[in-house]
Amino acid sequence: ATTLGASAAATGRYFGTAVAAYKLSDSVYSTILDREFNMVTPENEMKWDATEPSQNSFSYSSADQIVSHAQSHNMRIRGHALAWHSQQPGWVQSLSGTALRNAMLNHITNVATHYKGKIYSWDVVNEAFADGTSGARRSSNLQNTGNDWIEAAFKAARAADPAAKLCYNDYNTDGVNAKSTAVYNMVKDFKARGVPIDCVGFQSHINSASPVPSDYQANLQRFADLGVDVQITELDIAGSGTAQANTYATVVRACLAVARCNGLTVWGIRDSDSWRSGDTPLLFDNNGNKKAAYTSALDAL
Ligand code: XIL
Repeated sequence: ATTLGASAAATGRYFGTAVAAYKLSDSVYSTILDREFNMVTPENEMKWDATEPSQNSFSYSSADQIVSHAQSHNMRIRGHALAWHSQQPGWVQSLSGTALRNAMLNHITNVATHYKGKIYSWDVVNEAFADGTSGARRSSNLQNTGNDWIEAAFKAARAADPAAKLCYNDYNTDGVNAKSTAVYNMVKDFKARGVPIDCVGFQSHINSASPVPSDYQANLQRFADLGVDVQITELDIAGSGTAQANTYATVVRACLAVARCNGLTVWGIRDSDSWRSGDTPLLFDNNGNKKAAYTSALDAL
């Protein structure tokens, strides 16, 4: 096939991108979006600060814009992210204990209910593990409400939208390492105890400090072997030219080699859309032209 989305669909997968609502009116942007992609993730619009700017007062207009654009163009939607230590509104940052736990559960219930039936997979919990070799949870206000906050979040999401796949999502978990093994052990424990979890998202923000690990595919496979789907959720790869193109192909091939890898999402369309635009990490240049990385990714699908 001649587009990323159609080529991914040929093996039952998707190819998605992060989308910013305010860019939908940019015709260069929306032309590429509508032509190439069949999954979207709102880049910021479903985060806690955006959807519940003051307690119990929900604000969905920007996220709804992306959802309706996706639906009218036959794209599916990855919801991102229900519970996260970052991009919390100020009122959340001043809560703790039971009040914070209840606010989190109320938030999850409201957002997942608002989008019930419209979300392919939710990043229910994002970035809850520490970097480095400890294998510990990241210290955060949510973690301080009790170690069971992650399973409580997943149970609330399942109750609100039983049809959505529920994912745990993180970065620096792309290879077999202490952090990914800690996530692995949590997923294994959740499966053993019947805590609802359907998928694990691997952000895959690739740069020279964290290149694609040689055991990337093996790591995806060991999670799949626990009985969950795996998804590449925020792919971007610093670099340019042939080296960058080859790295994109490596990541695409790894997903295709794992039966339970549902698809890949890049974290933006043009390099200028990237949260780290200095790394020129995406598939289209600032003018919307296809880069070598695009052709390489497409050929690998
Ligand atoms: C980033 C967005 O791309 C930026 O626009 C925003 O300013 C900060 O967040 N991990 C995640 C994403 O899970 O939500 C982050 O997105 C990138 C890192």
